[in-house]
Amino acid sequence: MKVHIVHAHSEGDSFVNAMKTVIADQFAADGHEVSLSDLYAKGFNPVASPADFGDRRDPGRLVYTLEQRHNYQGGTLAADIVAELEPVLAADMLVFTFPIYWFGAPAILKGWFDRVLLSGVCYGGKRVYGQGGLAGKRSFAAMSLGGRHDMFGERGLHGELVQGMMRHLFQGTLGYVGTTVLDPFIGFNVPYISLEARTALLEELRRTVADIDRRPVLPVPDLNRFDDRFAPLPENAA
Ligand SMILES: Cc1cc2nc3c(=O)[nH]c(=O)nc-3n(C[C@H](O)[C@H](O)[C@H](O)COP(=O)(O)O)c2cc1C
Repeated sequence: MKVHIVHAHSEGDSFVNAMKTVIADQFAADGHEVSLSDLYAKGFNPVASPADFGDRRDPGRLVYTLEQRHNYQGGTLAADIVAELEPVLAADMLVFTFPIYWFGAPAILKGWFDRVLLSGVCYGGKRVYGQGGLAGKRSFAAMSLGGRHDMFGERGLHGELVQGMMRHLFQGTLGYVGTTVLDPFIGFNVPYISLEARTALLEELRRTVADIDRRPVLPVPDLNRFDDRFAPLPENAA
């Protein structure tokens, strides 16, 4: 299969970079075709702005999503967006490697989602969740964070991590555009743990990638429970 990695860390000696390398190497060793978008290395511009559009359906008022559709169809999108989108559309598996910043993705990756996951292509109208534009692809994230494992979960200080703190990413972005979202790999407490503990985490990640077909899938809303305007069907409304 084709695996496309979107990597968001500036430092070559970081744990996140080591995770990216482990993932790329294991997928390649297993015979998959791996491509990489290293956002810091290429100086990716994460700021969604009118400069993204070479033509305007409405020069007077910018509605970003509508201009995404118009400019994609007209071939007038900014070249860097088109260059990022192509490997996404070609991939069977999308991988994201990043450190958690403020309960979310770093700005450079957040901006990549904003600019690259185009309305009209990756989602739009009723083409969301199981019917999203990227349905049929899988997505997998490997993230690091400073917090310890016991700070998360139902009774943890920060609450549930994957479907709580990061729901905006796993449901609201990767699930919304239709990918089958695999349970992410999480490196807890990374800045504070020993080299041995980091090495053990990377080995666990390597085994996770080698066994990726058995990785659990995160839930997304079932469209069958909603009407054609996405209002809950009567039997589900209570
Ligand atoms: C701006 C910023 C925000 C951060 N926000 C969080 C956070 O919300 N939760 C957390 O556990 N760690 C947070 N961290 C810690 C990083 O996630 C951690 O340092 C990083 O994952 C370590 O990986 P690295 O060594 O590869 O950079 C933050 C760090 C920075 C710089």
